[in-house]
Amino acid sequence: MTEKLASLETDSHLIEVRRASVVPLASVAHPAAARGLSRISAAHLTRPQPEPGSAGAVCPAPGLEFGLAVARGLSDIPRRLDSRYLYDAHGSQIFENICRQPEYYLTRTEAAILTAAAGDIAGRTGEVTLIELGSGSSIKTQILLDAYAAAYGSAGYRPVDVSASILKQAEKEISARFPTAKVEAINGTYDEAFPLIASLSPAMLLFLGSTAGNLDSIEAAHFWGKVSRSLQTGDYCLLGIDINEDPKSLHDAYNDVAGHSAAFTRNLFARMNRELGSSIDTGSIDHLARYVPRWRRVEIFAGFNRSQQIDIAPLDSSFRIGSGEIILTEVSRKFRLSQMVPYLCTFGLNAERIYTDRGRRFAVLLLKKISFEPHQKTRISKRS
Ligand code: TRP
Repeated sequence: MTEKLASLETDSHLIEVRRASVVPLASVAHPAAARGLSRISAAHLTRPQPEPGSAGAVCPAPGLEFGLAVARGLSDIPRRLDSRYLYDAHGSQIFENICRQPEYYLTRTEAAILTAAAGDIAGRTGEVTLIELGSGSSIKTQILLDAYAAAYGSAGYRPVDVSASILKQAEKEISARFPTAKVEAINGTYDEAFPLIASLSPAMLLFLGSTAGNLDSIEAAHFWGKVSRSLQTGDYCLLGIDINEDPKSLHDAYNDVAGHSAAFTRNLFARMNRELGSSIDTGSIDHLARYVPRWRRVEIFAGFNRSQQIDIAPLDSSFRIGSGEIILTEVSRKFRLSQMVPYLCTFGLNAERIYTDRGRRFAVLLLKKISFEPHQKTRISKRS
C-alpha cells in the first residue's frame, strides 16, 4: 500500500496547472470560452429514454419530479433536500465558480494529481472509452484526453450530466480541442446512464471531484453495486476522493469569502421560485457549512433568518419554514484510504494504483473491475 501511494506524488502547492496542452482552469466557466465553437448542436446530446414503468415514464409534468422531491424532503424530520437539484444550469455555473475559489483546494489538487498521473493511467488502461459521471465542464477530463490522444491518437469520450447547457458547452470545447476525439454526451442521471455503460467496454468510468462523498452510505452501496455490474471484467474506474482531515481548511473550502458557496445554497431556493411557482425571499437564507470531525464529513444547511412559506404549485401544497429552522442541502464525506480501498474491493473494484498530492489532501484511485461473484456460495466437497 505504501509503495502504491508513493508511486506518483505531486505538490499540492503547485496548484496552477500550467501545461501548454491543458486549458487553463480559469477560462472554463467563462461564457466567452465557448465563443466561436458552434460545430456541435444540441442534437448530439443523447437523452436516455425512460424505461417503461420507471419514474421518468409516469412523471411527465414539468416541475413535478422536482416538486415531489422538495415536498418529500421538507416533510422529513429533520428537513433535508436532495442535493442533486443544486445542479440546474445556474447551479452548475455557480459550482464552477466554487471550484476556482482559492479556499476550494479540491479541484486544483485533483487537477495537479491528474496532470502528473495521466500518462501513467493511459499506459495502464490501454485504449478505452472515457465515460464521465457528473462531468460538469469537463476541465479535468481534458488533462486525461491529452494523455490518451498522445498515447493512442484519439479517444472516445462520453460525458454524463443532468445539466444540458453545461454538457453542450463542454462538448463544444472538447471537440474543438480534440478534433479526433469521438465525443457524445449523455444528458441524464447516473441511473439513466448505467445501462449504456456495459456496451462501451473497454471503458474507464470517471467519477471525479469527490462527488462520491455526496452519497450517503445507503446510496453509496447502491451506486458501487451498479458501477460494478455495469463494468466488464478488466474495465477501469478512476475515482477522485477528498482525504483531507484538517478542520480549518475544510471549513474554509465550504465557506469561501467571495460567497459562491452561499450563492450555491441559495440557488436551490431560487430554483424553486423559477420552477415551482414559489416566492421565497432568498435574502432570508444563510449558508451554513460545518465540518464534523467525528463523522468526517461537511454538513451544509440553508438556515432561515426569517420565516418563509414554500409553495409547490405543481402539487398545490405549501410548507411553512420557521425563523431559525435549518434544512440540510448537502453532505460531503471525507475518506480514509485504509477504509475506502477494502470497501471498494467488496464490489470487485481493485485499487491498482493510488495517486496523491504531497499534502495528502486528495487521492485519485485507479480501480480495475476484477472477475468476482458477490456472495459466491462456497462449494463443500464431499468427504468419503
Ligand atoms: N460536490 C461538492 C463537494 O462535496 C459540493 C459542494 C461544494 C457544495 N461546495 C458546496 C454544496 C457548497 C453546497 C454548498 O465538495
